[in-house]
Amino acid sequence: MHREIQIVPSVLPANLAALGEEVERLEEAGVDKIQFDVMDGHFVPNLTFGADVIASTRKYSSLPFEAHLMIQEPERTFEQYLAAGCDLIIVHAESTLHLDRTLTAIRAAGGRVGVALNPSTPEDALKYVYHLVDLILVMTVNPGFGGQQFLPEMKRKVASVATMRQSAAIDIEVDGGISAQTVSEIVAAGANHLVAGSALFRHPAGLKAAVSEMRSLAITAQGNS
Ligand code: DX5
Repeated sequence: MHREIQIVPSVLPANLAALGEEVERLEEAGVDKIQFDVMDGHFVPNLTFGADVIASTRKYSSLPFEAHLMIQEPERTFEQYLAAGCDLIIVHAESTLHLDRTLTAIRAAGGRVGVALNPSTPEDALKYVYHLVDLILVMTVNPGFGGQQFLPEMKRKVASVATMRQSAAIDIEVDGGISAQTVSEIVAAGANHLVAGSALFRHPAGLKAAVSEMRSLAITAQGNS
């Protein structure tokens, strides 16, 4: 039983000076939800934006928002992102000392829960928290920047997570270098939520065509797997 393919833009390459209009444009282009890449300059060597910026864009779209927290100690601030209008909070397994406690706290606060793994982090890190998550994000680049090369060895990790997840109700998301050239192989490995920045915003035929092309390729790959 395959889980629904979703096309998920990262707002990293968007025109951040007009983020509300960009969020509107993404919804018009047919995306399924929107990912905000929150970076603190410590967990990753880049600094982006916080909950207030996300809150300011909430009124521009009816789509679900998710916060990808690439920050140290997300347990200290995740409530701000729920209050900003995100319904899914994704924390990195490497960023919190007590992952079980952090995931439990997000759920208790009414959020849906995602865990992200950096490329070098084995999927075994999830072994005792599968029951607490709604989504697993397998990073297919080292986090911090858009426009990087897809790491093909992550296909093995996606396939392993797809096998290990105890409930079929867990979505497998991938993020980094996802494009028309890489989407088919990563979906065939088991991913169903596809985060893309450059491949969508820089597509020569525009956002709508980029979303449609990626969705079509992903659905075909899933059907053949
Ligand atoms: C990494 C970022 C990027 C971004 C997508 O920390 O999270 O993966 O969202 O970047 P592209 O699609 O340009 O590789």
